[in-house]
Amino acid sequence: MSQDDQEAKSAEELAESIDTGNINRQRRYFLIGATAVVGGLGVVGAAVPFVASWQPSAKARALGAPVRVDISKLRPGEMLGPVPAWRGQPIFVVYRTQETIDWLEQDHEDLLDPESANVDQQPGYAQNAVRAKRPEIGVYVGICTHLGCSPKYYGEVTGDIFTEDWPGGFFCPCHGSRFDLAGRVVKGVPAPDNLPVPPYQYLSDNVLLIGEDEETA
Ligand code: FES
Repeated sequence: MSQDDQEAKSAEELAESIDTGNINRQRRYFLIGATAVVGGLGVVGAAVPFVASWQPSAKARALGAPVRVDISKLRPGEMLGPVPAWRGQPIFVVYRTQETIDWLEQDHEDLLDPESANVDQQPGYAQNAVRAKRPEIGVYVGICTHLGCSPKYYGEVTGDIFTEDWPGGFFCPCHGSRFDLAGRVVKGVPAPDNLPVPPYQYLSDNVLLIGEDEETA
């Protein structure tokens, strides 16, 4: 098995291991339809059929080609599934409600790095309260910054994990790290940093290219 195949397989296995928590699973974690393959290089894996390579150069392919993701069927409160994979990592794409956006833009003293001061964790265009280009769409590497487990998505609050005023977030069951819906980590948990934001750009209103932005293209 080639390295690319191994990476794709490992990402596929990791993506399959991700659960959405106990919040209305059918509604919050839809299987989104397929996107056409572009560039003739084939899909990443059978379990992530909407992810396709996007005309990568040989150098980009060696590093891990960017992936094209259709978000046209994603609705407020949902996370895209099957979870896309880029460079062997799951990518969380969430569609936030206006309530969530309003919450993220308020001050919260319980966040470790609310202003995204650690510049290693996101490109400059995501150094804002929502850590994103568009407030409603969040794109994060779904790997806990503690020891690398993949957090679960909670589209709504459960009081046993988050405080009652939280609009949702990500919870890593391995050692209990919590992140808000902008991937910002809560103080006092093992994870030392916010979830990373990969480079990305919009090819159109409903199509994301993850792994490459206007600056790195
Ligand atoms: S790996 Fe996530 S809390 Fe330890």
